[in-house]
Amino acid sequence: MQKMIIREANTLDKIPVLKFCKNTFSWGDYVEQVWDFWLSEGHLFLGEKQSPVGICHAFYSENQIWIEGIRIDSRFRRQKIASDLVKHAETIGKEKNALLSYMLIDTENSASLLLANSLNYRILQTWNFYSLDPKINPNHNVYFEKSLNRQFYSHYVKSWRWLPIDDDTLLSFYEQNSIVKSSIGDKNSLAIFIASDHFDKTLIVTLFSNSNDSTLQILSFLQNYAVDKNYERIQILTKEKLPTFDSLEYKISFNLMKKLLV
Ligand SMILES: CC(C)(COP(=O)(O)OP(=O)(O)OC[C@H]1O[C@@H](n2cnc3c(N)ncnc32)[C@H](O)[C@@H]1OP(=O)(O)O)[C@@H](O)C(=O)NCCC(=O)NCCS
Repeated sequence: MQKMIIREANTLDKIPVLKFCKNTFSWGDYVEQVWDFWLSEGHLFLGEKQSPVGICHAFYSENQIWIEGIRIDSRFRRQKIASDLVKHAETIGKEKNALLSYMLIDTENSASLLLANSLNYRILQTWNFYSLDPKINPNHNVYFEKSLNRQFYSHYVKSWRWLPIDDDTLLSFYEQNSIVKSSIGDKNSLAIFIASDHFDKTLIVTLFSNSNDSTLQILSFLQNYAVDKNYERIQILTKEKLPTFDSLEYKISFNLMKKLLV
């Protein structure tokens, strides 16, 4: 079998890579939309035999690695190409003192879950993805949170990456009023909302729902906020099951996979 080399992808790789990242899933693939961002961020690893056979992107922050976009040309699967790409990303992460590695996998993607398992990733949490349409909805009972207890809120979702909430991030959330809370009775729900870096006019929300009533207040706020700020879509990630509400639509669930690197 021909030996594979792993290298950083470059602009010339886009066309051959996108050829095998078109119909990856039943709905297509998003690699085309994020390719330029991943390339500019760096750590877009490419496996090459005579031509590209697989990719994997890594995003390093604080002490963690976020692994995303594992794609292997269907003609080259079950040859440990994905395993080698992930291990390569982990080796570089360890050089950067990463202690943890994470990836997000559709709960129905058994091949990918088995791959992650074989590399010692374990399910940390399951998250649900909902979409919500913007709408003028001025009736909501919420306030901006300015003193988050990080014991309960360790990560937030930024462009589909679960990232740690560090001091600087928290300060920027406070400054930009990016955390909204609703307290109804003795139950609170809270949401962190930011613009997606990768997808146009998309608001991405990490929602911690503790009661239906407080969650409904936050959903109304988000709809109205999105109209105000010209967002066309709202993507909500939450561990909880959300109540029925207006255009809120459940899409899919993901396992957040975690591996200790030490
Ligand atoms: C999932 C995917 C990345 C695996 O790539 P791969 O290079 O074939 O994986 P590897 O050869 O490194 O597999 C390592 C192990 O994972 C498990 N595994 C991988 N694919 C599997 C499959 N289709 N069925 C069962 N087990 C599988 C096996 O344990 C395998 O070891 P084995 O072949 O010795 O049994 C590839 O099928 C793919 O590109 N799928 C479409 C895109 C995708 O789902 N990406 C992941 C998004 S999170």
